[in-house]
Amino acid sequence: MRQFTSVKDVADISALVTEALVLKRNPFAYKDLGRNKTLGLIFLNPSLRTRLSSQKAAANLGMEAIVMNIDKEGWALETQDGVIMNGTTVEHIREAAGVMGQYFDILAIRSFPGLKDRDEDYSEDILNKFIKFSGIPLISLESGTRHPLQSLADLITITENKPEGRRPKVVLTWAPHVKALPQAVPNSFAEWMCAAEVDFVITHPEGYELDTQFTNGATITYNQEEALADADFIYVKNWSSFQDYGKVLSTDQSWLLTQERLGVTNNAKVMHCLPVRRGMELSHDILDGPNSLVIQEAGNRVWAAQAVLKRMLETNFSPA
Ligand code: CP
Repeated sequence: MRQFTSVKDVADISALVTEALVLKRNPFAYKDLGRNKTLGLIFLNPSLRTRLSSQKAAANLGMEAIVMNIDKEGWALETQDGVIMNGTTVEHIREAAGVMGQYFDILAIRSFPGLKDRDEDYSEDILNKFIKFSGIPLISLESGTRHPLQSLADLITITENKPEGRRPKVVLTWAPHVKALPQAVPNSFAEWMCAAEVDFVITHPEGYELDTQFTNGATITYNQEEALADADFIYVKNWSSFQDYGKVLSTDQSWLLTQERLGVTNNAKVMHCLPVRRGMELSHDILDGPNSLVIQEAGNRVWAAQAVLKRMLETNFSPA
């Protein structure tokens, strides 16, 4: 595995989930695999889970992890080619990524979309430039269009909690939010669920259709109650409009998932990638109740990151 930026980088997602669950049971089984190897964790945006779980995963494999919040601690980055840098940007991504390629063995990058220019965000220009100019294996820590480590952790969590002997019904439901949020988490979750052994339904208000490249194979409905019927898992997430790009078209609180609304489900487990705005995006009663999986889900971020790092160490470097 040279890159981990989408589900397409994984030949067998079920084998990767199994590997993550084996690591969860025995975290230090490969503590020498990453000896003398360095992971660069570069953040252009805030993080709690992604940063800490990646550091812990690297430590479990014996790797050193170096974190840089480049948006606050680094030089202002120029990403456009051919510009005369006579403004506010100080360092070009060509040199910055190239230098990181000298210091690290594996590079991991978080770069959120600007939500202003859809073509620019969906071109994954920044991620692709880090891949190209660093010249080393790269992991996405969430990019313009996807959050694959989150999606892998989500699939691990579903695998741990799924009913015996049948395909689970998984529902992704849009939830209200005050701010415009990226589509990366729902895009990525949809892409992974469409590749997994689940029956997958997406529900959202009109105008919140996701890019169809991520939702091929999903059932999509504007009727949340219909979608929730007999659900085993409900994945709650806000996203801004893809069509009317980056806009908040609705804050309709009738979309807020409550414990009462779980009545039509198969006692569904509720998931959210976190951070979550309590009472706005997901109700207090669900978050504090027995159906919530959000803490277990966040915990599984470690095993997702560790499984991916293990694969990368095994496939890109000879044994120490
Ligand atoms: N879910 C997630 O990626 O959390 P952070 O943004 O805190 O890393």
